[in-house]
Amino acid sequence: MSWSRGSWRSKQLLHIPEYSDPVKLRGAEDRLKTYPPLVFAGEVRQLKTALARAADGQAFLLQGGDCAETFDDFHTHTIRDTFRVLLQMSLIFTFVGEKPVVKIGRVAGQFAKPRSAAVETVNGEEMVTYRGDMINSPTPTVADRTPDPERMIRAYFQSAATLNLLRAFAGGGYADLFRAGRWLLDFVGSSAVREKYENLAAGINKTLGVMRAYSQPDAPELIPAAHKVDYYSSHEALFLPYEEALARNDSLTGDPVATSAHYLWLGERTRGLDSPQVEFLRGVINPVGIKVGPTAEPSELERLMERINPENEKGRITLILRAGVDKAEKSYKRIMRELKNSGRNILWAVDPMHGNPKNDGSGVKTRMFSDILRESIIFIDTCRAEGVIPGGLHLEMTGKNVTECLGGSDRVEDLSYNYATQCDPRLNASQSLELAFAFSEHLVNTEPPPPPHPTSGRF
Ligand code: PEP
Ligand code: CO
Repeated sequence: MSWSRGSWRSKQLLHIPEYSDPVKLRGAEDRLKTYPPLVFAGEVRQLKTALARAADGQAFLLQGGDCAETFDDFHTHTIRDTFRVLLQMSLIFTFVGEKPVVKIGRVAGQFAKPRSAAVETVNGEEMVTYRGDMINSPTPTVADRTPDPERMIRAYFQSAATLNLLRAFAGGGYADLFRAGRWLLDFVGSSAVREKYENLAAGINKTLGVMRAYSQPDAPELIPAAHKVDYYSSHEALFLPYEEALARNDSLTGDPVATSAHYLWLGERTRGLDSPQVEFLRGVINPVGIKVGPTAEPSELERLMERINPENEKGRITLILRAGVDKAEKSYKRIMRELKNSGRNILWAVDPMHGNPKNDGSGVKTRMFSDILRESIIFIDTCRAEGVIPGGLHLEMTGKNVTECLGGSDRVEDLSYNYATQCDPRLNASQSLELAFAFSEHLVNTEPPPPPHPTSGRF
């Protein structure tokens, strides 16, 4: 089973549309192949090391962002606000759990979506379904829905500009812990959550102040690591012409690396052993997430992990469980029970969004905050009961004051107030922080006691 960047092409294509002009598609791919990588092999390895720590319970993975990025909603403030909420959530996790948080955005490449139907009929006309801005336009006309290879190039440049901004935010002062209080400036939402966050930020400032007072005035920087953060990019590895065109070989080791993002995941619909997406991902060194829905069989997951990670490298695989609140307990218990003794290194995470679709009665897609919270708690409890480490949380969220998920202490009841998603409903800033508090507090409250000190045996 030899692997090459293009070996996925021998598989039956899944969720990859046909292009009417293959020459134009090839032309766009050839251009992308000459463009600079968006991320670098060293960063990818550093992330894998951080995820290995999360698998061991020494860190926590927080991954979040839009269901899908779009060309229309490409704005500095959108990128900044989602980044800021992820930082705030990460601060909550660190403050409550006293562990580092590995921060990954669903960003800078999340432009392709799996769809259950290839075509649909709108106003009597049959057209290709919308598959994400990298492929076609959501506008329901035959022309706009026709897959256009130039969109791949546009997605690349938007991703490059997005990453450029995020790199500046992460390293250039915005993410400085000493500014944690000021990240509140544009905070909107529930006063209860706000107050909790303000207390936390004040606590951090106080601690930093005390440490500063104890340091020598001319001493080197007190906590150099507090002035910047590591922030990584991720998306679903769905549209393989783009992924293949951005695959490179690490100049130091020769290893193939996907440079479209640091972290790539397999969707619930494309994680079959023989899918082209699995074929592509097994050959690159990046960390890989696997979405796991309620019908997944433990034995099939084991074979999948064997295929993607034959050397059982820690940090390489995250299982992102997403069974939905009603099926979560049974599904998680079975998977954890069977896989925990398999010897496989797994980072266990939960996506409490995708198994909980609802509609508001008039056909608008939503999710209940209470379902999202409940599935998160079930995940933690089941991990504890089965003796595995709850190591990560994967969310669809935004820094904007949207009303897409119902409930939360803000009591979102009217979706029409600000329903902005092209795709799935996202948590807004206040709901995201509320979930971060509840999740991290439950993590800490259920933490097993440390093992007793080994006795010398003499007494
Ligand atoms: C997603 O994360 O946007 C998604 C489509 O998830 P899943 O594959 O788990 O349904
Ligand atoms: Co989604």
